[in-house]
Amino acid sequence: MAFSNQQATEYNDTVVRQFAIMTVVWGVVGMLVGVIIAAQLTWPELNFGISWLSYGRLRPLHTNAVIFAFGGCGLFAAAYYVVQRTCHVRLFSDKLAAFTFWGWQAVIVLAAISLPLGYTQGKEYAELEWPIDILITLVWVAFAVVFFGTIGTRKVRHIYVANWFFGAFIIAVALLHLVNSAAVPAGLMKSYSAYAGVQDAMVQWWYGHNAVGFFLTAGFLGMMYYFIPKQAERPVYSYRLSIVHFWALIFTYMWAGPHHLHYTALPDWTQSVGMLFSLILLAPSWGGMINGIMTLSGAWHKLRDDPILRFLIVSLSFYGMSTFEGPMMSIKTVNALSHYTDWTVGHVHSGALGWVGLVTMGSMYYLIPRLFGQKQMYSVKAIEVHFWTATIGIVIYIAAMWIAGVMQGLMWRAINPDGTLTYTFVESVKATYPFYVLRLLGGVLYLGGMLIMLWNVYKTAMAGRATNVNIPAAAAHA
Ligand code: HEM
Ligand code: HEM
Repeated sequence: MAFSNQQATEYNDTVVRQFAIMTVVWGVVGMLVGVIIAAQLTWPELNFGISWLSYGRLRPLHTNAVIFAFGGCGLFAAAYYVVQRTCHVRLFSDKLAAFTFWGWQAVIVLAAISLPLGYTQGKEYAELEWPIDILITLVWVAFAVVFFGTIGTRKVRHIYVANWFFGAFIIAVALLHLVNSAAVPAGLMKSYSAYAGVQDAMVQWWYGHNAVGFFLTAGFLGMMYYFIPKQAERPVYSYRLSIVHFWALIFTYMWAGPHHLHYTALPDWTQSVGMLFSLILLAPSWGGMINGIMTLSGAWHKLRDDPILRFLIVSLSFYGMSTFEGPMMSIKTVNALSHYTDWTVGHVHSGALGWVGLVTMGSMYYLIPRLFGQKQMYSVKAIEVHFWTATIGIVIYIAAMWIAGVMQGLMWRAINPDGTLTYTFVESVKATYPFYVLRLLGGVLYLGGMLIMLWNVYKTAMAGRATNVNIPAAAAHA
Protein backbone atom coordinates (compact mmCIF):
# COMPACT_ATOMS: atom_id res chain seq x y z
CA MET A 1 0.00 0.00 0.00
CA ALA A 2 1.22 3.49 -0.76
CA PHE A 3 1.22 5.67 2.34
CA SER A 4 2.53 9.14 2.87
CA ASN A 5 5.53 9.09 5.26
CA GLN A 6 3.39 10.43 8.06
CA GLN A 7 0.85 7.62 7.61
CA ALA A 8 3.49 4.89 7.32
CA THR A 9 4.72 5.65 10.83
CA GLU A 10 1.26 5.76 12.38
CA TYR A 11 -1.36 3.17 13.15
CA ASN A 12 -4.67 3.60 11.34
CA ASP A 13 -6.68 4.58 14.39
CA THR A 14 -9.22 6.54 12.37
CA VAL A 15 -11.23 3.45 11.48
CA VAL A 16 -10.88 2.12 15.04
CA ARG A 17 -12.25 5.40 16.38
CA GLN A 18 -15.18 5.36 13.96
CA PHE A 19 -16.15 1.81 14.87
CA ALA A 20 -15.66 2.46 18.62
CA ILE A 21 -18.00 5.45 18.59
CA MET A 22 -20.62 3.64 16.55
CA THR A 23 -20.45 0.72 19.02
CA VAL A 24 -21.75 3.04 21.70
CA VAL A 25 -24.32 4.73 19.45
CA TRP A 26 -25.73 1.44 18.12
CA GLY A 27 -25.62 0.00 21.63
CA VAL A 28 -28.03 2.73 22.76
CA VAL A 29 -30.29 2.21 19.72
CA GLY A 30 -30.37 -1.61 19.92
CA MET A 31 -31.00 -1.64 23.65
CA LEU A 32 -33.69 1.03 23.31
CA VAL A 33 -35.50 -1.26 20.85
CA GLY A 34 -34.97 -4.10 23.40
CA VAL A 35 -36.66 -1.96 26.06
CA ILE A 36 -39.52 -1.14 23.67
CA ILE A 37 -40.22 -4.81 22.88
CA ALA A 38 -39.90 -5.70 26.57
CA ALA A 39 -42.55 -3.02 27.22
CA GLN A 40 -44.70 -4.41 24.39
CA LEU A 41 -44.61 -7.86 25.98
CA THR A 42 -45.91 -6.21 29.14
CA TRP A 43 -48.41 -3.88 27.42
CA PRO A 44 -49.14 -5.27 23.92
CA GLU A 45 -51.13 -2.17 22.89
CA LEU A 46 -47.82 -0.25 22.73
CA ASN A 47 -47.61 -1.05 19.01
CA PHE A 48 -50.42 1.56 18.53
CA GLY A 49 -51.81 -0.58 15.71
CA ILE A 50 -48.94 0.50 13.40
CA SER A 51 -47.55 -2.49 11.49
CA TRP A 52 -43.92 -1.38 11.51
CA LEU A 53 -44.05 -0.91 15.27
CA SER A 54 -45.40 -4.40 15.81
CA TYR A 55 -43.51 -6.81 18.04
CA GLY A 56 -42.80 -9.30 15.23
CA ARG A 57 -40.95 -6.64 13.25
CA LEU A 58 -39.16 -4.87 16.10
CA ARG A 59 -37.84 -8.09 17.66
CA PRO A 60 -35.51 -8.93 14.74
CA LEU A 61 -34.57 -5.25 14.63
CA HIS A 62 -33.46 -5.58 18.26
CA THR A 63 -31.47 -8.77 17.72
CA ASN A 64 -29.79 -7.46 14.56
CA ALA A 65 -29.00 -4.11 16.14
CA VAL A 66 -27.46 -5.50 19.32
CA ILE A 67 -25.59 -8.41 17.75
CA PHE A 68 -24.41 -7.01 14.42
CA ALA A 69 -24.44 -3.26 15.00
CA PHE A 70 -23.37 -2.96 18.66
CA GLY A 71 -21.41 -6.24 18.88
CA GLY A 72 -20.19 -6.07 15.29
CA CYS A 73 -18.81 -2.52 15.49
CA GLY A 74 -17.13 -3.41 18.80
CA LEU A 75 -15.49 -6.42 17.16
CA PHE A 76 -14.28 -4.44 14.13
CA ALA A 77 -12.83 -1.75 16.43
CA ALA A 78 -11.10 -4.26 18.68
CA ALA A 79 -9.79 -6.45 15.84
CA TYR A 80 -8.34 -3.47 13.97
CA TYR A 81 -6.77 -1.98 17.10
CA VAL A 82 -5.35 -5.25 18.40
CA VAL A 83 -3.98 -6.58 15.12
CA GLN A 84 -1.98 -3.38 14.55
CA ARG A 85 -0.59 -3.27 18.10
CA THR A 86 0.37 -6.94 18.20
CA CYS A 87 1.86 -6.96 14.67
CA HIS A 88 3.54 -3.53 14.88
CA VAL A 89 2.27 -2.49 11.46
CA ARG A 90 -0.39 -0.21 10.07
CA LEU A 91 -3.53 -1.86 8.67
CA PHE A 92 -2.92 -3.55 5.34
CA SER A 93 -5.19 -1.20 3.40
CA ASP A 94 -6.72 2.09 4.53
CA LYS A 95 -9.17 2.17 1.66
CA LEU A 96 -10.54 -1.30 2.32
CA ALA A 97 -10.71 -0.57 6.03
CA ALA A 98 -12.77 2.56 5.29
CA PHE A 99 -14.97 0.47 3.00
CA THR A 100 -15.64 -1.98 5.85
CA PHE A 101 -16.72 0.91 8.07
CA TRP A 102 -19.08 2.60 5.61
CA GLY A 103 -20.28 -0.71 4.16
CA TRP A 104 -21.12 -2.07 7.61
CA GLN A 105 -22.99 1.12 8.54
CA ALA A 106 -24.93 0.82 5.27
CA VAL A 107 -25.88 -2.77 6.17
CA ILE A 108 -27.13 -1.58 9.56
CA VAL A 109 -29.17 1.28 8.11
CA LEU A 110 -30.68 -1.04 5.47
CA ALA A 111 -31.58 -3.49 8.24
CA ALA A 112 -33.17 -0.71 10.27
CA ILE A 113 -35.35 0.21 7.29
CA SER A 114 -36.17 -3.20 5.81
CA LEU A 115 -36.98 -5.10 9.01
CA PRO A 116 -39.71 -2.73 10.29
CA LEU A 117 -41.14 -2.73 6.74
CA GLY A 118 -41.54 -6.49 7.08
CA TYR A 119 -38.87 -7.72 4.63
CA THR A 120 -37.37 -10.88 6.07
CA GLN A 121 -36.05 -14.28 5.10
CA GLY A 122 -37.58 -15.60 8.33
CA LYS A 123 -34.30 -17.14 9.50
CA GLU A 124 -33.36 -16.04 13.00
CA TYR A 125 -30.25 -13.80 13.07
CA ALA A 126 -30.13 -14.11 9.25
CA GLU A 127 -33.33 -12.21 8.44
CA LEU A 128 -31.89 -9.69 5.99
CA GLU A 129 -32.91 -10.11 2.35
CA TRP A 130 -30.51 -11.19 -0.38
CA PRO A 131 -29.29 -7.79 -1.70
CA ILE A 132 -28.21 -6.87 1.85
CA ASP A 133 -26.65 -10.33 2.23
CA ILE A 134 -24.49 -9.62 -0.81
CA LEU A 135 -23.33 -6.33 0.70
CA ILE A 136 -22.50 -8.17 3.95
CA THR A 137 -20.41 -10.64 1.93
CA LEU A 138 -18.45 -7.84 0.24
CA VAL A 139 -17.77 -6.09 3.54
CA TRP A 140 -16.72 -9.35 5.16
CA VAL A 141 -14.30 -10.25 2.38
CA ALA A 142 -12.76 -6.77 2.70
CA PHE A 143 -12.51 -7.29 6.48
CA ALA A 144 -10.72 -10.60 5.92
CA VAL A 145 -8.29 -9.02 3.44
CA VAL A 146 -7.48 -6.14 5.81
CA PHE A 147 -7.09 -8.41 8.85
CA PHE A 148 -5.11 -11.25 7.30
CA GLY A 149 -3.17 -8.81 5.11
CA THR A 150 -2.05 -7.06 8.30
CA ILE A 151 -1.08 -10.38 9.87
CA GLY A 152 0.81 -11.24 6.66
CA THR A 153 2.85 -8.01 6.75
CA ARG A 154 3.54 -8.14 10.51
CA LYS A 155 6.88 -7.11 11.96
CA VAL A 156 6.54 -9.46 14.92
CA ARG A 157 7.16 -13.14 14.21
CA HIS A 158 4.72 -14.42 16.77
CA ILE A 159 0.95 -14.23 16.19
CA TYR A 160 -0.62 -13.24 19.49
CA VAL A 161 -3.51 -15.44 20.64
CA ALA A 162 -6.12 -12.67 20.41
CA ASN A 163 -5.51 -12.65 16.66
CA TRP A 164 -6.19 -16.37 16.45
CA PHE A 165 -9.62 -15.76 17.90
CA PHE A 166 -10.33 -12.77 15.64
CA GLY A 167 -9.13 -14.79 12.65
CA ALA A 168 -11.34 -17.77 13.49
CA PHE A 169 -14.28 -15.42 13.99
CA ILE A 170 -13.77 -13.86 10.55
CA ILE A 171 -13.37 -17.18 8.71
CA ALA A 172 -16.20 -18.98 10.48
CA VAL A 173 -18.69 -16.11 10.07
CA ALA A 174 -17.88 -16.00 6.33
CA LEU A 175 -18.58 -19.72 6.05
CA LEU A 176 -21.78 -19.56 8.08
CA HIS A 177 -23.13 -16.57 6.21
CA LEU A 178 -22.42 -18.00 2.76
CA VAL A 179 -23.93 -21.41 3.47
CA ASN A 180 -26.98 -20.35 5.46
CA SER A 181 -27.93 -17.41 3.27
CA ALA A 182 -27.91 -19.42 0.02
CA ALA A 183 -31.28 -18.54 -1.53
CA VAL A 184 -33.11 -18.16 -4.81
CA PRO A 185 -34.21 -14.55 -5.38
CA ALA A 186 -37.86 -14.06 -6.34
CA GLY A 187 -37.88 -10.27 -6.54
CA LEU A 188 -35.79 -7.42 -5.21
CA MET A 189 -36.71 -8.06 -1.58
CA LYS A 190 -37.95 -11.63 -1.63
CA SER A 191 -36.14 -14.95 -1.81
CA TYR A 192 -36.54 -18.62 -0.99
CA SER A 193 -33.99 -20.63 0.95
CA ALA A 194 -31.88 -23.08 -1.08
CA TYR A 195 -32.78 -25.73 1.49
CA ALA A 196 -36.09 -27.30 2.35
CA GLY A 197 -37.76 -28.91 5.35
CA VAL A 198 -35.59 -30.40 8.03
CA GLN A 199 -32.36 -29.68 6.13
CA ASP A 200 -33.29 -26.01 6.18
CA ALA A 201 -33.80 -26.19 9.94
CA MET A 202 -30.50 -28.03 10.41
CA VAL A 203 -28.52 -25.54 8.33
CA GLN A 204 -30.24 -22.63 10.06
CA TRP A 205 -29.32 -23.87 13.55
CA TRP A 206 -25.84 -24.90 12.53
CA TYR A 207 -25.62 -21.23 11.57
CA GLY A 208 -27.53 -19.96 14.63
CA HIS A 209 -25.45 -21.81 17.17
CA ASN A 210 -22.18 -20.94 15.51
CA ALA A 211 -23.29 -17.32 15.30
CA VAL A 212 -23.29 -17.59 19.10
CA GLY A 213 -19.99 -19.49 19.05
CA PHE A 214 -18.09 -17.32 16.63
CA PHE A 215 -19.82 -13.94 16.47
CA LEU A 216 -20.88 -13.70 20.13
CA THR A 217 -17.98 -15.68 21.61
CA ALA A 218 -14.75 -16.20 19.63
CA GLY A 219 -14.36 -12.54 18.63
CA PHE A 220 -15.10 -11.38 22.16
CA LEU A 221 -12.55 -13.87 23.50
CA GLY A 222 -10.08 -12.08 21.23
CA MET A 223 -11.03 -8.87 23.07
CA MET A 224 -10.62 -10.59 26.40
CA TYR A 225 -7.14 -11.92 25.56
CA TYR A 226 -5.88 -8.45 24.72
CA PHE A 227 -7.72 -6.02 26.97
CA ILE A 228 -7.64 -7.96 30.26
CA PRO A 229 -3.85 -8.38 30.31
CA LYS A 230 -3.48 -4.75 29.19
CA GLN A 231 -5.80 -3.28 31.78
CA ALA A 232 -4.50 -5.56 34.55
CA GLU A 233 -0.89 -5.00 33.44
CA ARG A 234 -0.26 -8.73 33.83
CA PRO A 235 0.63 -11.38 31.24
CA VAL A 236 -2.02 -13.91 30.22
CA TYR A 237 -2.24 -16.55 32.96
CA SER A 238 -1.35 -19.50 30.71
CA TYR A 239 -0.36 -19.24 27.09
CA ARG A 240 -0.51 -23.01 26.74
CA LEU A 241 -4.09 -23.04 28.05
CA SER A 242 -5.03 -20.33 25.56
CA ILE A 243 -3.90 -22.52 22.65
CA VAL A 244 -5.70 -25.63 23.96
CA HIS A 245 -8.74 -23.43 24.65
CA PHE A 246 -8.66 -22.08 21.10
CA TRP A 247 -8.52 -25.38 19.22
CA ALA A 248 -10.94 -27.19 21.53
CA LEU A 249 -13.48 -24.38 21.34
CA ILE A 250 -13.54 -23.96 17.59
CA PHE A 251 -13.62 -27.68 16.95
CA THR A 252 -16.45 -28.38 19.39
CA TYR A 253 -18.77 -25.46 18.60
CA MET A 254 -19.33 -26.61 15.02
CA TRP A 255 -21.22 -29.77 16.10
CA ALA A 256 -23.53 -28.48 18.80
CA GLY A 257 -26.24 -26.82 16.63
CA PRO A 258 -28.85 -29.61 16.86
CA HIS A 259 -29.48 -28.78 20.53
CA HIS A 260 -31.78 -26.08 19.15
CA LEU A 261 -33.89 -28.77 17.50
CA HIS A 262 -34.51 -31.34 20.23
CA TYR A 263 -37.70 -33.38 19.79
CA THR A 264 -38.17 -32.22 16.21
CA ALA A 265 -38.19 -34.10 12.88
CA LEU A 266 -34.39 -34.02 12.93
CA PRO A 267 -33.06 -37.61 13.22
CA ASP A 268 -32.72 -38.54 16.88
CA TRP A 269 -29.01 -39.44 16.63
CA THR A 270 -28.18 -35.93 15.35
CA GLN A 271 -29.92 -34.46 18.39
CA SER A 272 -27.82 -36.72 20.63
CA VAL A 273 -24.60 -35.69 18.84
CA GLY A 274 -25.59 -32.05 19.38
CA MET A 275 -26.21 -32.71 23.07
CA LEU A 276 -22.92 -34.56 23.51
CA PHE A 277 -20.84 -31.83 21.89
CA SER A 278 -22.68 -29.19 23.93
CA LEU A 279 -21.72 -31.00 27.12
CA ILE A 280 -18.11 -31.24 25.98
CA LEU A 281 -18.18 -27.51 25.20
CA LEU A 282 -18.30 -26.73 28.90
CA ALA A 283 -14.60 -27.65 29.22
CA PRO A 284 -13.01 -25.30 26.65
CA SER A 285 -15.42 -22.52 27.62
CA TRP A 286 -14.41 -22.72 31.25
CA GLY A 287 -10.76 -23.09 30.23
CA GLY A 288 -11.06 -19.68 28.58
CA MET A 289 -12.88 -18.15 31.51
CA ILE A 290 -10.30 -19.45 33.99
CA ASN A 291 -7.45 -18.19 31.83
CA GLY A 292 -8.98 -14.72 31.74
CA ILE A 293 -9.86 -14.49 35.42
CA MET A 294 -6.56 -15.99 36.62
CA THR A 295 -4.68 -13.35 34.63
CA LEU A 296 -5.50 -11.21 37.64
CA SER A 297 -3.68 -13.53 40.04
CA GLY A 298 -1.42 -11.43 42.18
CA ALA A 299 -3.32 -8.30 41.19
CA TRP A 300 -6.78 -8.95 42.62
CA HIS A 301 -6.66 -5.70 44.56
CA LYS A 302 -6.96 -3.84 41.25
CA LEU A 303 -10.59 -4.91 41.07
CA ARG A 304 -11.32 -2.70 44.07
CA ASP A 305 -10.63 0.59 42.36
CA ASP A 306 -10.54 -0.08 38.62
CA PRO A 307 -14.09 -0.09 37.21
CA ILE A 308 -12.86 -0.97 33.69
CA LEU A 309 -11.22 -4.14 34.99
CA ARG A 310 -14.42 -4.89 36.85
CA PHE A 311 -16.41 -4.73 33.59
CA LEU A 312 -13.94 -7.15 32.01
CA ILE A 313 -13.72 -9.64 34.84
CA VAL A 314 -17.43 -9.68 35.68
CA SER A 315 -18.13 -10.29 31.98
CA LEU A 316 -16.12 -13.49 32.33
CA SER A 317 -18.18 -14.58 35.32
CA PHE A 318 -21.30 -14.24 33.19
CA TYR A 319 -19.53 -16.08 30.38
CA GLY A 320 -18.83 -18.92 32.80
CA MET A 321 -22.41 -18.88 34.01
CA SER A 322 -24.01 -18.99 30.57
CA THR A 323 -21.60 -21.64 29.29
CA PHE A 324 -22.51 -23.81 32.27
CA GLU A 325 -26.21 -23.20 31.79
CA GLY A 326 -26.09 -23.85 28.01
CA PRO A 327 -24.74 -27.40 28.27
CA MET A 328 -27.32 -28.15 30.98
CA MET A 329 -30.14 -26.86 28.72
CA SER A 330 -28.84 -29.02 25.90
CA ILE A 331 -29.61 -32.19 27.88
CA LYS A 332 -32.78 -33.45 26.27
CA THR A 333 -34.78 -33.91 29.46
CA VAL A 334 -33.85 -30.43 30.69
CA ASN A 335 -34.63 -28.98 27.26
CA ALA A 336 -38.06 -30.58 27.41
CA LEU A 337 -38.73 -28.15 30.25
CA SER A 338 -36.80 -25.09 29.09
CA HIS A 339 -37.58 -24.98 25.36
CA TYR A 340 -40.26 -22.42 24.31
CA THR A 341 -40.04 -20.78 27.75
CA ASP A 342 -38.44 -17.58 28.98
CA TRP A 343 -35.64 -19.65 30.49
CA THR A 344 -34.06 -19.55 27.01
CA VAL A 345 -34.44 -15.75 26.96
CA GLY A 346 -32.79 -15.62 30.42
CA HIS A 347 -29.91 -17.76 29.15
CA VAL A 348 -29.52 -15.60 26.04
CA HIS A 349 -29.32 -12.39 28.04
CA SER A 350 -26.97 -13.70 30.70
CA GLY A 351 -24.62 -14.32 27.76
CA ALA A 352 -25.60 -11.21 25.81
CA LEU A 353 -25.85 -8.58 28.54
CA GLY A 354 -23.41 -10.18 30.95
CA TRP A 355 -20.68 -11.47 28.66
CA VAL A 356 -20.92 -9.72 25.28
CA GLY A 357 -22.22 -6.41 26.66
CA LEU A 358 -19.83 -6.00 29.60
CA VAL A 359 -16.69 -7.16 27.78
CA THR A 360 -17.45 -4.74 24.94
CA MET A 361 -18.09 -1.84 27.29
CA GLY A 362 -14.90 -2.56 29.26
CA SER A 363 -12.86 -2.73 26.05
CA MET A 364 -14.35 0.50 24.70
CA TYR A 365 -13.62 2.26 28.00
CA TYR A 366 -10.01 1.18 27.53
CA LEU A 367 -9.88 2.25 23.88
CA ILE A 368 -11.78 5.51 23.69
CA PRO A 369 -9.54 7.75 25.83
CA ARG A 370 -6.48 6.45 23.95
CA LEU A 371 -8.11 7.19 20.62
CA PHE A 372 -8.63 10.79 21.71
CA GLY A 373 -5.18 11.28 23.23
CA GLN A 374 -6.50 11.21 26.81
CA LYS A 375 -5.16 9.31 29.83
CA GLN A 376 -8.59 8.20 30.96
CA MET A 377 -12.29 8.70 30.36
CA TYR A 378 -13.76 12.10 31.21
CA SER A 379 -15.45 10.69 34.31
CA VAL A 380 -14.20 7.55 36.07
CA LYS A 381 -17.05 7.93 38.56
CA ALA A 382 -19.50 7.61 35.66
CA ILE A 383 -17.84 4.31 34.62
CA GLU A 384 -18.38 3.12 38.18
CA VAL A 385 -22.06 4.14 38.11
CA HIS A 386 -22.45 2.48 34.70
CA PHE A 387 -20.95 -0.74 36.03
CA TRP A 388 -23.38 -0.99 38.92
CA THR A 389 -26.44 0.09 36.92
CA ALA A 390 -25.66 -2.50 34.26
CA THR A 391 -24.89 -5.29 36.72
CA ILE A 392 -28.05 -4.72 38.77
CA GLY A 393 -30.04 -4.51 35.52
CA ILE A 394 -28.65 -7.85 34.31
CA VAL A 395 -29.37 -9.61 37.58
CA ILE A 396 -32.98 -8.37 37.62
CA TYR A 397 -33.46 -9.28 33.93
CA ILE A 398 -32.09 -12.81 34.09
CA ALA A 399 -33.49 -13.75 37.48
CA ALA A 400 -36.98 -12.69 36.31
CA MET A 401 -36.65 -14.76 33.13
CA TRP A 402 -35.35 -17.83 34.93
CA ILE A 403 -38.22 -17.84 37.40
CA ALA A 404 -40.76 -17.12 34.64
CA GLY A 405 -39.27 -19.83 32.40
CA VAL A 406 -39.22 -22.63 34.94
CA MET A 407 -42.72 -21.63 36.06
CA GLN A 408 -44.04 -21.72 32.48
CA GLY A 409 -42.42 -25.11 31.81
CA LEU A 410 -43.91 -26.59 34.96
CA MET A 411 -47.37 -25.09 34.36
CA TRP A 412 -47.52 -26.38 30.78
CA ARG A 413 -46.66 -29.93 31.76
CA ALA A 414 -48.81 -30.15 34.91
CA ILE A 415 -51.65 -32.65 34.52
CA ASN A 416 -54.59 -33.62 36.69
CA PRO A 417 -55.15 -37.21 37.80
CA ASP A 418 -57.68 -37.62 34.95
CA GLY A 419 -55.03 -36.66 32.39
CA THR A 420 -56.33 -33.18 31.54
CA LEU A 421 -54.08 -30.11 31.70
CA THR A 422 -54.05 -28.34 35.07
CA TYR A 423 -53.54 -24.88 33.55
CA THR A 424 -54.73 -23.21 30.40
CA PHE A 425 -52.04 -21.45 28.37
CA VAL A 426 -53.46 -18.05 29.19
CA GLU A 427 -53.10 -18.75 32.90
CA SER A 428 -49.36 -19.17 32.34
CA VAL A 429 -49.29 -15.85 30.43
CA LYS A 430 -51.05 -14.14 33.33
CA ALA A 431 -48.64 -15.65 35.85
CA THR A 432 -45.70 -14.39 33.77
CA TYR A 433 -46.89 -10.77 33.75
CA PRO A 434 -45.04 -9.55 36.91
CA PHE A 435 -41.82 -11.04 35.60
CA TYR A 436 -42.18 -9.15 32.33
CA VAL A 437 -42.50 -5.93 34.33
CA LEU A 438 -39.33 -6.85 36.24
CA ARG A 439 -37.48 -7.65 33.01
CA LEU A 440 -38.49 -4.26 31.69
CA LEU A 441 -37.05 -2.64 34.80
CA GLY A 442 -33.78 -4.58 34.36
CA GLY A 443 -33.64 -3.51 30.70
CA VAL A 444 -34.26 0.17 31.56
CA LEU A 445 -31.37 0.06 34.04
CA TYR A 446 -29.07 -1.56 31.49
CA LEU A 447 -30.03 1.02 28.86
CA GLY A 448 -29.58 3.78 31.46
CA GLY A 449 -25.98 2.62 31.96
CA MET A 450 -25.42 2.76 28.23
CA LEU A 451 -26.71 6.34 28.12
CA ILE A 452 -24.23 7.28 30.84
CA MET A 453 -21.52 5.74 28.67
CA LEU A 454 -22.65 7.76 25.64
CA TRP A 455 -22.41 10.97 27.67
CA ASN A 456 -18.98 10.02 29.01
CA VAL A 457 -17.69 9.17 25.54
CA TYR A 458 -18.98 12.49 24.19
CA LYS A 459 -17.27 14.42 26.98
CA THR A 460 -14.01 12.49 26.49
CA ALA A 461 -14.05 13.13 22.74
CA MET A 462 -14.74 16.84 23.30
CA ALA A 463 -11.98 17.17 25.90
CA GLY A 464 -9.43 15.42 23.67
CA ARG A 465 -8.40 15.34 20.04
CA ALA A 466 -8.55 12.51 17.51
CA THR A 467 -5.07 10.99 17.74
CA ASN A 468 -3.30 8.34 15.68
CA VAL A 469 -0.51 6.71 17.66
CA ASN A 470 2.98 6.18 16.22
CA ILE A 471 4.19 2.67 15.44
CA PRO A 472 7.22 1.76 17.62
CA ALA A 473 10.38 2.14 15.53
CA ALA A 474 12.04 -1.13 16.52
CA ALA A 475 9.58 -4.01 16.33
CA ALA A 476 10.02 -6.56 19.08
CA HIS A 477 10.56 -10.16 18.07
CA ALA A 478 8.71 -12.21 20.64
C1 HEM B 1 -21.17 -23.93 26.16
C2 HEM B 1 -21.83 -22.96 25.63
C3 HEM B 1 -23.28 -22.95 25.33
C4 HEM B 1 -24.15 -23.98 25.09
C5 HEM B 1 -23.87 -25.47 25.06
C6 HEM B 1 -25.46 -23.38 24.85
C7 HEM B 1 -26.61 -24.10 24.66
C8 HEM B 1 -27.85 -23.55 24.40
C9 HEM B 1 -29.11 -24.25 24.39
C10 HEM B 1 -29.30 -25.72 24.70
C11 HEM B 1 -30.06 -23.36 24.03
C12 HEM B 1 -31.58 -23.63 23.95
C13 HEM B 1 -32.00 -24.09 22.64
C14 HEM B 1 -33.52 -24.25 22.60
O1 HEM B 1 -34.10 -24.86 23.49
O2 HEM B 1 -34.12 -23.73 21.65
C15 HEM B 1 -29.41 -22.11 23.79
C16 HEM B 1 -30.03 -20.97 23.32
C17 HEM B 1 -29.35 -19.81 23.03
N1 HEM B 1 -28.08 -19.48 23.46
FE1 HEM B 1 -26.75 -20.73 24.29
N2 HEM B 1 -25.35 -22.02 24.91
C18 HEM B 1 -24.04 -21.71 25.21
C19 HEM B 1 -23.52 -20.45 25.40
C20 HEM B 1 -24.14 -19.29 24.98
C21 HEM B 1 -23.58 -17.97 25.05
C22 HEM B 1 -22.23 -17.62 25.65
C23 HEM B 1 -24.48 -17.13 24.46
C24 HEM B 1 -24.45 -15.64 24.22
C25 HEM B 1 -23.45 -14.92 24.17
C26 HEM B 1 -25.61 -17.94 24.01
C27 HEM B 1 -26.68 -17.48 23.29
C28 HEM B 1 -27.78 -18.23 23.00
C29 HEM B 1 -28.87 -17.74 22.20
C30 HEM B 1 -28.94 -16.39 21.48
C31 HEM B 1 -29.88 -18.74 22.23
C32 HEM B 1 -31.27 -18.64 21.65
C33 HEM B 1 -31.33 -19.13 20.28
C34 HEM B 1 -32.74 -18.97 19.76
O3 HEM B 1 -33.58 -19.84 20.01
O4 HEM B 1 -32.99 -17.96 19.12
N3 HEM B 1 -25.38 -19.23 24.37
N4 HEM B 1 -28.07 -22.23 24.05
C1 HEM C 1 -31.58 -3.08 27.40
C2 HEM C 1 -31.19 -4.26 27.08
C3 HEM C 1 -32.04 -5.33 26.46
C4 HEM C 1 -33.39 -5.58 26.57
C5 HEM C 1 -34.41 -4.85 27.40
C6 HEM C 1 -33.67 -6.73 25.74
C7 HEM C 1 -34.93 -7.28 25.57
C8 HEM C 1 -35.23 -8.34 24.75
C9 HEM C 1 -36.54 -8.90 24.54
C10 HEM C 1 -37.82 -8.39 25.18
C11 HEM C 1 -36.42 -9.94 23.68
C12 HEM C 1 -37.53 -10.83 23.14
C13 HEM C 1 -37.75 -12.01 24.03
C14 HEM C 1 -38.87 -12.87 23.57
O1 HEM C 1 -39.13 -12.99 22.37
O2 HEM C 1 -39.56 -13.44 24.43
C15 HEM C 1 -35.03 -10.06 23.34
C16 HEM C 1 -34.50 -11.03 22.51
C17 HEM C 1 -33.16 -11.16 22.24
N1 HEM C 1 -32.14 -10.30 22.64
FE1 HEM C 1 -32.31 -8.74 23.90
N2 HEM C 1 -32.51 -7.15 25.17
C18 HEM C 1 -31.49 -6.31 25.56
C19 HEM C 1 -30.16 -6.37 25.18
C20 HEM C 1 -29.61 -7.34 24.37
C21 HEM C 1 -28.22 -7.43 23.99
C22 HEM C 1 -27.13 -6.44 24.41
C23 HEM C 1 -28.09 -8.53 23.19
C24 HEM C 1 -26.88 -9.11 22.49
C25 HEM C 1 -25.67 -8.68 22.57
C26 HEM C 1 -29.42 -9.13 23.07
C27 HEM C 1 -29.70 -10.25 22.31
C28 HEM C 1 -30.96 -10.80 22.16
C29 HEM C 1 -31.21 -12.03 21.42
C30 HEM C 1 -30.15 -12.91 20.74
C31 HEM C 1 -32.59 -12.26 21.48
C32 HEM C 1 -33.37 -13.44 20.88
C33 HEM C 1 -33.51 -14.49 21.95
C34 HEM C 1 -34.18 -15.79 21.52
O3 HEM C 1 -34.52 -15.94 20.36
O4 HEM C 1 -34.36 -16.66 22.38
N3 HEM C 1 -30.31 -8.38 23.78
N4 HEM C 1 -34.31 -9.07 24.00
